[in-house]
Amino acid sequence: MKNNGSKTDKRRKSHGPTSLLEASPLVRRFATRIVDAAGNGPILDVACGVGRNAVIFAQLGCTVICLDKNQDLLRRLPNNPRILPMQMDLATDHWPFGRCQLGGIVNIHFLLPTIFRRFKSSLSPGGHLLIETVPAHGNNFLELPKEGELRSALDGAFDFDFYQEKKAGPLEYKKVTVRLLARRRD
Ligand SMILES: C[S@@+](CC[C@H](N)C(=O)[O-])C[C@H]1O[C@@H](n2cnc3c(N)ncnc32)[C@H](O)[C@@H]1O
Repeated sequence: MKNNGSKTDKRRKSHGPTSLLEASPLVRRFATRIVDAAGNGPILDVACGVGRNAVIFAQLGCTVICLDKNQDLLRRLPNNPRILPMQMDLATDHWPFGRCQLGGIVNIHFLLPTIFRRFKSSLSPGGHLLIETVPAHGNNFLELPKEGELRSALDGAFDFDFYQEKKAGPLEYKKVTVRLLARRRD
């Protein structure tokens, strides 16, 4: 098989499966691209839960900072030296990352647009931001963003490799689920 010597190949070495939990299909689809763009920077898994999305990045050789406010969930993170727990409340605590400190950011099933400006500042140029809102069910459309809201919040600082909106709830609310992969501009 052809080996193009990518950073991902070089780092895909020691750590085998550490968890049976399945990552989001969007994470699995773009993980290699995110890792290759991350350089030596860590990936931040925002509101990581029990870390189902972190495992694949650790397996690909990246350090993953798993951030969540719930200490009980952090205790259940996969036991992998590349997965680093960080307990903080994103709504109230001081943002701990400096400029261009992160190689990538993954933000699945948790949405707090007020931290997007932190993402912009702490993500290295060329690094990827992956966002997936919760799927639509029942009345949860109320907590989903409006059409175009996430695109316009990130436009300017990011280019979009992938952007998908699907209508959620009654049409007049103009709510959508969003899945996106954006790349930090230089
Ligand atoms: C639906 S779970 C998603 C977990 C994970 N991203 C996944 O896809 O499996 C939402 C997570 O957000 C975390 N969370 C909610 N509010 C938070 C906050 N203010 N700061 C940090 N984490 C928060 C919860 O503890 C929970 O783990």
